[in-house]
Amino acid sequence: MSLNLQSIRQDYAKQTLSIKECAISPFNQFELWLKQAIDAKVNEPTAMNVATVDQNGMPTARIVLLKEMSQEGFIFYTNYESRKGLAIAQNPHAALTFFWPELERQVRIEGSVQKVDTQVSDVYFASRPYTSRLGAWASHQSQEITGHAQLIKEVAKLGIKYPLKVPRPDYWGGYIVIPDRVEFWQGRPSRLHDRILYEKNNDSPNLWTKVRLSP
Ligand SMILES: Cc1cc2nc3c(=O)[nH]c(=O)nc-3n(C[C@H](O)[C@H](O)[C@H](O)COP(=O)(O)O)c2cc1C
Repeated sequence: MSLNLQSIRQDYAKQTLSIKECAISPFNQFELWLKQAIDAKVNEPTAMNVATVDQNGMPTARIVLLKEMSQEGFIFYTNYESRKGLAIAQNPHAALTFFWPELERQVRIEGSVQKVDTQVSDVYFASRPYTSRLGAWASHQSQEITGHAQLIKEVAKLGIKYPLKVPRPDYWGGYIVIPDRVEFWQGRPSRLHDRILYEKNNDSPNLWTKVRLSP
């Protein structure tokens, strides 16, 4: 069986993007685009693809939710012992991709990865719903399990152990991706898209250079 998808194509014509209109810092430009995605009611506007590379040089990717952005980087939360956690421990770099189809936009972020301070993870963990906090204990993310019932049983046991206050497991917390490249992509007609790339200036890391890339 084969699947021919060659006739599925869409032309993009909603907006344009120029170097001049892009903010000085990619963080400010990202904030503007994310706000516009939220206002446009894009489905899961904070969902991003996170690509990592393991110790054998094999890339893997998965969707996670962006939970915070500062002038330093982009933060997401996960299990440090998951497949991505093990890959990051070996190779602390990641590439993030956002796609907001309703706005015909993509953002690509590449940089180094660090664990956030434990206090930062504590504060975010405490803000999660009770059952999600129990879930973080019940899930040994990316390991094989016998079935869904195993998780439900585990959560029930944990509910007895932690009837009110659920501590954060040591193996669960945040990562910050500190970018050195951020690219904003705006779809344009006839595949002549706008691409503006920010690159960190090696001599003064708070300064970014902006260039236009060929689509
Ligand atoms: C919309 C969406 C949001 C997700 N958000 C997260 C998240 O914030 N953190 C997380 O660890 N996994 C999240 N996941 C699950 C991951 O995609 C993935 O299955 C999990 O992190 C295990 O990945 P790994 O085995 O590569 O480590 C999300 C999945 C989807 C589809």
